[in-house]
Amino acid sequence: MGKTVAFLGPGVILLALQYARRRDQLEALEGRAPMAEAWQGVGRPRNLEAIPGGVRVYFQEATPGRGQDPYLEAVFLGEDLLRLTWFPGEPVPPYALAGGTPPAFEPERLKTQEGYLLKTPRLALRLEGEGLSLWDGEERLLRQESYPERLGPAWRHRVRLVPGERVLGLGERAHPLDRRGGVFRFWNRDPGGSYGLGEDPLYLSVPLWLSLLHEGGYLAFYENPADGFADLRGEEALVGFWGGPFRYYLIPGPLEEALARYVQLTGLPPLPPRFALGFQYARWGLGTRREVEEVVEGFLKRGLPLRAVHLDIDYMRGYRVFTVDERRFPDLGGMVRAFREKGVRTVLILDPGIKAEKGFPPYEEGLREGVFCRLPSGEVFLGPVWPGLAAFPDFTDPRARDWWGDKLKGLLELGVSGFWLDMNEPALFAAWGEPTFPKGVRHSLEGQGGDHLLAHNLYGLLMARATWEGFRKHAPLSRPFLLTRAGYAGVQRYAWAWTADVESTWEGLRTTLRALLGLSLSGVYFVGSDIGGFSGNPSPELYLRWFQMAAFTPFFRLHSARWTRRREPWRFGDEVLEGARWAMELRERLLPYLYTLAYRASRKGLPLLRPLFLQGGPYTEEAFLLGEALLVAPVLEEGARAKEVPLPKGRWYSWEEEGVSQGPAWVRLPAPLGRIPLLVRAGSVLPLLEGEGLTLHLYPGEEGAEGLLYWDEGDGEGAYRLDRFRLQRVEGGFRLLWEGEGGYPWPWEGIGLKLFGGRLLRAWVEGRVYPAWEGGVRLPLFQEALLEVAE
Ligand code: NOJ
Repeated sequence: MGKTVAFLGPGVILLALQYARRRDQLEALEGRAPMAEAWQGVGRPRNLEAIPGGVRVYFQEATPGRGQDPYLEAVFLGEDLLRLTWFPGEPVPPYALAGGTPPAFEPERLKTQEGYLLKTPRLALRLEGEGLSLWDGEERLLRQESYPERLGPAWRHRVRLVPGERVLGLGERAHPLDRRGGVFRFWNRDPGGSYGLGEDPLYLSVPLWLSLLHEGGYLAFYENPADGFADLRGEEALVGFWGGPFRYYLIPGPLEEALARYVQLTGLPPLPPRFALGFQYARWGLGTRREVEEVVEGFLKRGLPLRAVHLDIDYMRGYRVFTVDERRFPDLGGMVRAFREKGVRTVLILDPGIKAEKGFPPYEEGLREGVFCRLPSGEVFLGPVWPGLAAFPDFTDPRARDWWGDKLKGLLELGVSGFWLDMNEPALFAAWGEPTFPKGVRHSLEGQGGDHLLAHNLYGLLMARATWEGFRKHAPLSRPFLLTRAGYAGVQRYAWAWTADVESTWEGLRTTLRALLGLSLSGVYFVGSDIGGFSGNPSPELYLRWFQMAAFTPFFRLHSARWTRRREPWRFGDEVLEGARWAMELRERLLPYLYTLAYRASRKGLPLLRPLFLQGGPYTEEAFLLGEALLVAPVLEEGARAKEVPLPKGRWYSWEEEGVSQGPAWVRLPAPLGRIPLLVRAGSVLPLLEGEGLTLHLYPGEEGAEGLLYWDEGDGEGAYRLDRFRLQRVEGGFRLLWEGEGGYPWPWEGIGLKLFGGRLLRAWVEGRVYPAWEGGVRLPLFQEALLEVAE
């Protein structure tokens, strides 16, 4: 029985019981027939045919009387991108891809003794008797697979794993970052109110696999949304899907570049509105406008920087989506506007289920327009969620997406700045078995038709797409801010993701870090968690440690379940309040750095959260990088007041303190309750908001330092500016060069500089001297400044 359901009383339990029974009946009637036969191999290659960019390979194992014979198409779509597709396969529209398929790229073609070789300067594919292998440009073996097997519409294959190889990615997982030793399912699933380490699957699966090898590595992306699995327990991994196309893309390392390449293929994350990078607050169970206002006031009067407040399902009338309970939330638009004047934006939750109630306009309208998912019998499918039995828009139908998008108009007119998309795995209340639609439910899939087994993992992605498109249409001057619980490859084009209902335990905190880094290694870069865990009551120490970690994750939000104790930062005593203030204020100061990272993600596909090994550091789950410059070492153990961190090579400055550490080495860093260890890579220039102005923190390395700053109005599509700073060592100090581009005027009075690892005496700009004061100096705008440093 789902844990949430257990918290929610007899009405929900009854619905959950009834539904589980009905789902089982429907699946018995309408699901795919159980597959009794055995998996069957394709045999050895029989003959090859050249096609643009690659080959078509036919195999020996024909299957008389069972339809089409199997064949493989291997096509290069760039020198570092190879696509393999096995036929026959159930086609699915390419929802994951951003701009369609890239054009074919002609490889070199060679016949070898054992088989056939296709080669570009960066990647080679060898086709041999039993299987195929992949090599990088330096002729290092990346991957060996045996030719796949089929069972009805299902395909699976074996991938050889070498000793020491680490497999990463696979989306959101409550599992160590190295996935070896585990079995995983690609099937978005609501674990029901609370989860911990080992729960699988979770809400957002991405069939993306990264292999970290002794030297180099590669990325494999299975472009198949159907129910699938990856079994990594042995020396051979088994990867397969119960339907859909058996198609995958292979990209050579280095992994960070491979990830960027994947993100270019499946879509760059758009630049968010700037408020979204600030601290956000949510709480399930705030039942009235007054309660929400009190919380917002609570933050503001304590000088705690709050950028957005999220309203959970409590604002709706009887949990009916697209309604506002006027009695409890009178004049919601007035509240939204008043908050906005204080610098606080409002985000509303939306669930996909539309209450199946006669006379409820969205339901009646949806029925009339035929936008809901149906059973094979043609009847509209109904399932239980918060408002009771509900119908569900079929987001794989463009008409349903348009219909949903138009429904946002009224809410956007209230001045709402974003939507929080929940329950979109899709999740239902079921007393046992799978808490989702029966597998036989029909979907449009852009008109081609298909069942829920194919469309399930697409539901969250396409709900996000529909919401994104509606947002653009009805609020064209604002950048959409969307947060989603479920998704699939490509979801980063539309929404951020959070790791939802994790338990409030120390293990939950560690699990969260793994889930966040796993998402980031799966191309979903804008991620965060419910500070303190969702479902329980964290101790003050756990709460604070979670808060501190979250301040360095892209999405920084407090949220909790309605049955837990309230957890605004002032409810745990002064020490916790001051610790939370440190985290929130530092987050505000870091906004220019974060915004620049967001910009780079949106242009280049580079991740914000990076495990150290992504940039040549050791494999560790104890620390991560935020961008290239900042190393964050969250405290994940109760009572710890110091933290052992394995530093990557190079010099690392302690955050705002004396001291430089040299990597590679394990270092022990102080971690008093009030803060967590932070280090800055030598060679960085960090832009920070300080006081009313912008200050560059300069951390010289041997070669000097470099940094970038992106800035604009914070929303909309207006002018921007991009400033590049270069610090060079010269006799007696440094030269700082500043080049800017873009039409957005510099919005601050001059610029501040702070030097670390040396004492700044004075600066010179165009022959004028500016004395330093407490290690810092403020200068007018310049192209070149000279910094004089004490010996
Ligand atoms: C489940 C979500 O994961 C949680 O964040 C939310 O508070 C509840 N649904 C209620 O809407």
